[in-house]
Amino acid sequence: MTSSPRSTARPPSAQGRAPFEHALREAAEIAALSPSSHNCQPWGVAWPTGRGARRAAERLVDRAPADGPEAPERTSGGRGADGRATDEYVILALDRERELTSLPAHAVEMLVSCGAYLQILLRSLALQGWSTDRIHFVEPRAGRQTRDTHGTWPPLGDTWPVSWSPLCVVRLRGTDEPDVPDGSLAELRRTALARRTNRGPYRLEAVEPAVLDGLSAPSTGVAEGADVTVRHLVADSERAAFAGLVARHGGRDFSHRQAWRETYSFVRRDAAEAAARGDGFPLSQLFGPLSTPRRHALSLALAPTTMRVLRHAGYHRVLARQLARVVRPTPVVVAMGLADASPGVGATLRGGARLAEYWLRATEAGLALHPVSVVLQHDDVRKELQDRLGLPGRTFFVSRLGRPLTDFPRAPRRLGVRAVRTI
Ligand SMILES: Cc1cc2nc3c(=O)[nH]c(=O)nc-3n(C[C@H](O)[C@H](O)[C@H](O)COP(=O)(O)O)c2cc1C
Repeated sequence: MTSSPRSTARPPSAQGRAPFEHALREAAEIAALSPSSHNCQPWGVAWPTGRGARRAAERLVDRAPADGPEAPERTSGGRGADGRATDEYVILALDRERELTSLPAHAVEMLVSCGAYLQILLRSLALQGWSTDRIHFVEPRAGRQTRDTHGTWPPLGDTWPVSWSPLCVVRLRGTDEPDVPDGSLAELRRTALARRTNRGPYRLEAVEPAVLDGLSAPSTGVAEGADVTVRHLVADSERAAFAGLVARHGGRDFSHRQAWRETYSFVRRDAAEAAARGDGFPLSQLFGPLSTPRRHALSLALAPTTMRVLRHAGYHRVLARQLARVVRPTPVVVAMGLADASPGVGATLRGGARLAEYWLRATEAGLALHPVSVVLQHDDVRKELQDRLGLPGRTFFVSRLGRPLTDFPRAPRRLGVRAVRTI
């Protein structure tokens, strides 16, 4: 383990900052394509450029265990004595204005979504010559609420966005000549663009074991060494048990008043509204292509006020059975778990990073995913799932996996730079 010399650097000049600014913009555009629950995109990235904010970031990172290479000697900010690019910092945050809150389990989903974003952001930066040197995860202090702790932490100055809670501080080390083949960034962008949630039917044939092994191979980046178990449920009995659970409990979201109200707030009437908002999902994302009358009928049937009435007629059970019918013939169900039953911020973010890596690999292998989180969102159902299928620790992600029979439209996104602020 090595430790880096403490920087006494002035913040880089605007000119010195330009290469990193460019790289960060590119990386944020690619990372914006990351998956997130309800497509809420709950992430934010702060880039400290002012002296105070840089110092604060530097102090925090210096608390993290060092395992990166020795830092080059630094003189003035952004450039070493030899004129080569040196260090920059980014702080990943959870944007409280964009997070889901109606269920306690959403806290994990938000961190998993932010972790997936972090993995793609840092990989995109690495491919542009900015490799991750150290990460400090911001764990809430014992006995205090996460929100309070984050709300008063840390002294990052007046420019820190009030609705953001810091999750981790990353130090990036610049190298003028990244050791990566040309075109790697374009390749990552292509895969990130091709990756999407596909809720349609999948081919019935089994996925080759060697392909599944490739998906669970050791990870890189933030996900490297993450304590995550990946289980592929392929046996008929396992898949039937999973589908049975979905049929029994898959209506929970629809019948839970606050949860459904929140979910419905992300449903967009059509692709035009979804594109204008840049988040959520049009109905066609959930139910496939729809005629206008059917779209209106569904929109009405799913509205929280209608759902409250229809619930008494058992409509949520009908929807659960519909979901189970999609799940049942799927050749693989993938379950990912964290070793710790009550994981902290760092472990959960790294779990999300692992998920991003897995999903990108699946995309490259021509496979698609369709998460089925409803069985994880209520502790009693999650425990039943884990007990029935012998899943240890804390299962944080479960999804259909297979070769899709149809393409699926891309979900909308906010512009990548909208998630980035200088502080
Ligand atoms: C942690 C997590 C949980 C998710 N759970 C569900 C789910 O239960 N059902 C579903 O249809 N999609 C689920 N998704 C997929 C998101 O809805 C999807 O990523 C988002 O709408 C953006 O679409 P895209 O993945 O096609 O880019 C989940 C995604 C994440 C990251």
